[in-house]
Amino acid sequence: MAIGENELRRVMGHFATGVTVVTTHGGGGRYFGLTANALSSVSLVPPLLLVCVDKKAESYASFEQSKVFTVNILAADQEDISRRFAVSGGDKFEGVSYRVGANGAPILGGVLAYIECKTVASYEGGDHTIYLGEIKETGTVEGKPLLFYRGGYRSLGG
Ligand SMILES: Cc1cc2nc3c(=O)[nH]c(=O)nc-3n(C[C@H](O)[C@H](O)[C@H](O)COP(=O)(O)O)c2cc1C
Repeated sequence: MAIGENELRRVMGHFATGVTVVTTHGGGGRYFGLTANALSSVSLVPPLLLVCVDKKAESYASFEQSKVFTVNILAADQEDISRRFAVSGGDKFEGVSYRVGANGAPILGGVLAYIECKTVASYEGGDHTIYLGEIKETGTVEGKPLLFYRGGYRSLGG
């Protein structure tokens, strides 16, 4: 019997992850982003990663059209940013510090790392689409990560 949605969330919640906000642009100075932890490194040469985006997400059409995205890895003090970008609707960037990266997608202020990508392939993944991104630009700072485990925000050692 197929596993139910809630049970799958509960089981997968045992896999501790970092938390990212994946951003893109919608043209005309409009920006989109969503909180995501379905992220994986894929290849070193060429440098590739993947993110999985829900087809029902409001930002989905922009990921499909722009063919670029930026992964923003959140710092331990950015739970508020994670919560903001995990809710659909409104201008999520209002009052949030960011700059526009070389690929045209926003880089959020205060993040531990950013990874700018060009979308080079996309794959069917059930109710999500798997985007394969070629990594173009990156940056990091020192700090502690925001973590997500069993449905809650955590920090290292906490
Ligand atoms: C910790 C966490 C991880 C998430 N990971 C993903 C993910 O990997 N992919 C995804 O599509 N949604 C993920 N979500 C849900 C989206 O952030 C949420 O559906 C968001 O409202 C979508 O925004 P949008 O509708 O404005 O595009 C996650 C939410 C949380 C809190």
